[in-house]
Amino acid sequence: MRKIALLGLMSLFIATSSFADDAAEKTTVIHAGHMLDVESGEILKDRFIIIDDNIIRDVVTLSDMEDMEPEDVEFIDLSDMYVLPGLSDSHVHLTGDAHVHGYKRLTRSTPRAAITGVRNAKRTLMAGFTTVRNVGAPGFADVDLMEAIEDGDVPGPRIIPAGRSIGITGGHCDNNLLPYENRKTAGGVADGPWAVRAKVRENKKFGAKVIKFCGTGGVLSKGTKVGAQQFSFEEMKAIVDEAHQLGLKVAVHAHGEEGIDTAIKAGVDSVEHSSFISDAGISAAKANGTYLSMDVYVSDYILSEGEAAGILQESLEKERTVGRKQRERFKAAVKAGAKMAFGTDAGVYPHGDNGKQFAFMVKWGMTPLQAIQASTIENAQLFGLEESIGSLESGKMADIIAVSGDPLQEIAQLEDVDFVMKNGEVFKTDSN
Ligand code: ARG
Repeated sequence: MRKIALLGLMSLFIATSSFADDAAEKTTVIHAGHMLDVESGEILKDRFIIIDDNIIRDVVTLSDMEDMEPEDVEFIDLSDMYVLPGLSDSHVHLTGDAHVHGYKRLTRSTPRAAITGVRNAKRTLMAGFTTVRNVGAPGFADVDLMEAIEDGDVPGPRIIPAGRSIGITGGHCDNNLLPYENRKTAGGVADGPWAVRAKVRENKKFGAKVIKFCGTGGVLSKGTKVGAQQFSFEEMKAIVDEAHQLGLKVAVHAHGEEGIDTAIKAGVDSVEHSSFISDAGISAAKANGTYLSMDVYVSDYILSEGEAAGILQESLEKERTVGRKQRERFKAAVKAGAKMAFGTDAGVYPHGDNGKQFAFMVKWGMTPLQAIQASTIENAQLFGLEESIGSLESGKMADIIAVSGDPLQEIAQLEDVDFVMKNGEVFKTDSN
């Protein structure tokens, strides 16, 4: 880190500025040469981000600081960088390994998956993603990963874990790989309104901070149809009502039109994939304030690397019907002004490549700023964390990243993040 490069400037700080905050143990000042205001899209020149421990105290210009008194600060020089809020991803599976799909997954225990999750959490953070929603993990491994990260045992993003995904018997969130004699039922399987309510309660009991359920078939599950609805309206409504009553948001996996429409009517907070969403579905999402979390990059990975990773032939066939259509519907949703989240399904493809999706979102109709907003302020809203993450403002957590070029000019800058601070702690600089 070139943190002492501006020694002259630092002494100016010490001589003329006051950051006195008795409560803070440590104060850090980041000199952001170019700081992206994600709300307005303006790139602000030479801003100084003052951080008390893990919270942004203020963002000021040099002249703003003239009345302040001296104080010991750690100085971080990002004067030649583009500085942004930490990125977030609304759809990851940290315990999933991109090279292990289909029948290969049956060989993986939950503890093994958790260890994979440790590796993936680090990769995700180093890619600039400081918050992720983990929408499904067997055995609540994502809850344990969240705790290990919070305790400082291992590096990783802030995790909002779903624990087990809830789904119908034989549906996308069940495990349908084995015949009856060797049958396996996924932990989140439940049928009927009261049974699904009980699953929501159980997930909450064991640490889930968001509820995920499967409202249609999927690409990567055996024997399900992407277009076909799973769960009745009554079951979906029971899940949503119970979750909301407990203060949890709800994400539905849904590709097919009817499943999407029914889930929006039931009151879900986000629709994952949304591949075949109709115009009426887009209007309903807008009217209800439902976020669409559309993973428009992953198709390229599934179709090029999937077979070697163990993805079933039937899944590859399904993906051929989904990929392009989903991108077209993404474009339609953006044009219509629906609320868009940034969700990638990393885990199906390698963690740490989350940022590759930005360029696809821009190619399919977003401005670079809209794509960045999806991953910052929009996801923050979806997560219910808009008071604490998503922008560089006083009172928010110090989740800060930097890249070497202007991401509004070249969105692929976000595929190569040089500096990462999460919650006031530096995890990556250009020297490591
Ligand atoms: N987990 C999803 C499923 O199995 C992946 C879908 C990926 N395809 C896509 N075009 N987004 O259904």
